[in-house]
Amino acid sequence: PERKAELIAKIKRLLIEKDAVLVAHYYTSDDLQALAEETGGCVSDSLEMARFGNKQTAKTLVVAGVKFMGETAKILNPEKRILMPTLEATCSLDLGCPVDEFSAFCDAHPEYTVVVYANTSAAVKARADWVVTSSIAVDVAEHLAAQGKKIIWAPDKHLGNYVQKVTGADMLLWDGACIVHEEFKARGVLDLKQVYPDAGVLVHPESPESVVAIADAVGSTSQLIKASQTLPNPRFIVATDRGIFYKMKHASPHKEFIEAPTAGNGATCRSCAHCPWMAMNELENLAHVLETGSQEVFVEPSLIPKALIPLQRMLDFAN
Ligand code: 13P
Ligand code: SF4
Repeated sequence: PERKAELIAKIKRLLIEKDAVLVAHYYTSDDLQALAEETGGCVSDSLEMARFGNKQTAKTLVVAGVKFMGETAKILNPEKRILMPTLEATCSLDLGCPVDEFSAFCDAHPEYTVVVYANTSAAVKARADWVVTSSIAVDVAEHLAAQGKKIIWAPDKHLGNYVQKVTGADMLLWDGACIVHEEFKARGVLDLKQVYPDAGVLVHPESPESVVAIADAVGSTSQLIKASQTLPNPRFIVATDRGIFYKMKHASPHKEFIEAPTAGNGATCRSCAHCPWMAMNELENLAHVLETGSQEVFVEPSLIPKALIPLQRMLDFAN
């Protein structure tokens, strides 16, 4: 604990010294979320993370999350230095959508509007007409469907399937998935509901259809936190990364939050629903990059203006 307190004090000092601000995703550790809050940074979902960087005057943004979040920050703020605790932190959705294959797929369907999730590389964003995050995925698809547009949706098939069901949009889905959310099992959630009949079920739309089908609320991380505050249930079964519990417990200390099972037998798995890449963000590597300036995010300069178009479209739409 002493070492931890020292590290936290060091990071706070370095943030000031280096004119840096810390932006953390809800799936990072409690320590990182607390640090971002205490130092005037922000803790949020992917959309708010993108927005936040835009509004900062600090010369350096430190993005605690995964690679696509750092790249998005760079594309939106090319004049700033973007650091991450580690550039190794990626995402199964990004990995599952290589730009060459994806471009070929888009080329084969030229009449489709290309919508990609924020969880993609800068190169994939540069090939897209729209970028979305989970908090506005339904709204964007509705908007496009209302104009009679057909949609290529990549990379998350579960999010795509959910959006297609809600909006009725004509969509071609890429076959990608989040390795964390894909593991949630409806059977296990229903078993838990037997034990806690008054529990509400909160589900991120990267989860399989059968889990989404039994949700009381479906949405992005920030939307699920809001639902945990506004729904009247005294407890919730939560199907998303367990990092989110920090904020949920803080917002509603009198409520109980239970991890949705990733096994079908109702047994909760204490550590399964945690993204291995988000977990790579630590106090140690954060202090190190602030000190040394290593792990800086660079995006191929020719991609920046191309990827900015669909990203800016998303931000303008969300406003
Ligand atoms: P949101 O925070 O936008 O809901 O995204 C979840 C996610 O998977 C980030 O990795
Ligand atoms: Fe990607 Fe899933 Fe990890 Fe989010 S939780 S970064 S979608 S692998």
